[in-house]
Amino acid sequence: MQKKIYRRLSQIGLALTFTLSNAHDSNADDSRIWASQCFQCHGTNGYPVGDMDEIGGKDPNSLYEGLIEMKYRGKTEGIMDLHARGYSDEQLRAIAEYISVQSGSEQPGEEESQEEEREEEQEKKD
Ligand code: HEC
Repeated sequence: MQKKIYRRLSQIGLALTFTLSNAHDSNADDSRIWASQCFQCHGTNGYPVGDMDEIGGKDPNSLYEGLIEMKYRGKTEGIMDLHARGYSDEQLRAIAEYISVQSGSEQPGEEESQEEEREEEQEKKD
């Protein structure tokens, strides 16, 4: 059980390292951190596994307008209204831009460990 947890933690570590090394400027970094909150419900990079609304790769303007509408509609219709109120308009704009350029590829961590496995197999053959 403990071993499993450590394995999982190191996988997450790998994924984080990969993401960090791919962020080029501090703005992109901030957006990624803000948007990571969204991915807890909407799936990694906005691509959900279940039947949650997919937001990854959507048009940035319509994402932004949707979020602004949820933020300012006055009454609370759903969980998203509360979430949208937690960010400034500028943050919502940055989040919308960030999410709009995400693609639904598999998780970087998994990709990397698969590659490691292939390398190990190759070494055995040599
Ligand atoms: C606690 C879970 C949760 C989090 C966190 C969350 N959402 Fe949502 N989101 C939902 C649910 C549930 C819906 C469906 C509409 C509703 O019930 O309000 C939704 C709907 C949406 C929609 C409308 C989608 C559509 O096709 O109409 C957008 C856009 C959206 N969320 C963006 C975001 C963004 C951006 C964030 C981060 C700032 C975020 N969500 C964080 C749960 C969440």
